[in-house]
Amino acid sequence: MRAAFYEKLGSARDVLQVGTLPDPSPMAGEVRVKIAASGVNPSDVKMRTGTGSAASQFPRIVPHSDGAGIIDQVGAGVPQARIGERVWVWNARWNRPFGTAAEFVTLPAEQAVKLPDGTDFAAGACFGIPALTAWQGVETDGGVQQGDWVLVNGGAGAVGHYAVQMAARKGARVIATVSSAAKAAHARAAGAEIVVDRKQEDVAARIRHVTHGKCVARAIEVDFSGNIEWLPSVMADYGLIAIYGSSQREGMVQFGPSILSNIGYRFFIVYNQPPALRARAIADLTHLLQEGRLKHSIAATFPLSDIAAAHEAVENGRMMGNIVVTP
Ligand SMILES: NC(=O)c1ccc[n+]([C@@H]2O[C@H](COP(=O)([O-])OP(=O)(O)OC[C@H]3O[C@@H](n4cnc5c(N)ncnc54)[C@H](OP(=O)(O)O)[C@@H]3O)[C@@H](O)[C@H]2O)c1
Repeated sequence: MRAAFYEKLGSARDVLQVGTLPDPSPMAGEVRVKIAASGVNPSDVKMRTGTGSAASQFPRIVPHSDGAGIIDQVGAGVPQARIGERVWVWNARWNRPFGTAAEFVTLPAEQAVKLPDGTDFAAGACFGIPALTAWQGVETDGGVQQGDWVLVNGGAGAVGHYAVQMAARKGARVIATVSSAAKAAHARAAGAEIVVDRKQEDVAARIRHVTHGKCVARAIEVDFSGNIEWLPSVMADYGLIAIYGSSQREGMVQFGPSILSNIGYRFFIVYNQPPALRARAIADLTHLLQEGRLKHSIAATFPLSDIAAAHEAVENGRMMGNIVVTP
């Protein structure tokens, strides 16, 4: 099969190769998916450069955890009826060497989820990480309640855009931060009631002003280290900060305001989502897709031969939405 792979860590152009690898066969309990679209996420870049939280333990890696396509083979114990099923996949490259940047991927059958009719493969290639992360940010620890003020930092990001939609759909009043007029329009179209340009405005002051001092019941945080200095000052009593990203590996939490307001800090990584929560996330996402309720945002599509450019697009962060590679 045609595949992209790397055998050492480094910059995209230095280490990513495109070539031919043996066709994989599904083992017992697995399916083989013929990939139509492979989603690129920041963690794929961090794994390739060795800057992520998880170390690489394989001599050759086909990158990307997310993807979508059609099941074309099943292993022992998996119903033959699944052959031909349109699916999206999760954790294809988590604790496994061969992800979705290839013509085929094999993985445990439950990691290939039926893609509802009407949802295209490019969108399906963005559910495993962006959509499931956003869902967890909104639903973890009791979930967002109707009428809650919710802050989505980075509301035009791949995760943030879904988080804004999911929180707004639950009746929350969403405040999104962005850094440009285009991103403001994107977050507003997703359902943000208030959009704050974090580069032009004092975000904390604006939040206290628009909420009349009530502050937010939940913050869904893309940059823990970058925003932790002011975050406690915008949290309502008993509020939760759901943290999925950080630009630096350390951040100083203020003890005083955190304990006085009983603020909860929930760090989470979607690769290690608790199974019961993941099952709920998948069921809820499937329901949203069946109802056509979610807007998807594909910023650019690259051919597999141009995978280095796709990784660079994710790395430089100038695009708005998800980056997809087609084999
Ligand atoms: N824990 C998990 O399971 C998990 C899952 C998915 C992603 N992540 C991590 O989350 C981060 C974002 O992923 P993504 O796919 O959504 O990336 P993305 O599409 O590049 O979006 C990131 C967004 O965050 C905004 N941003 C950057 N720094 C910010 C700051 N200090 N305050 C507020 N907004 C800020 C960016 O916009 P502006 O800079 O233009 O405002 C951009 O819109 C990455 O670090 C990724 O590794 C973690």
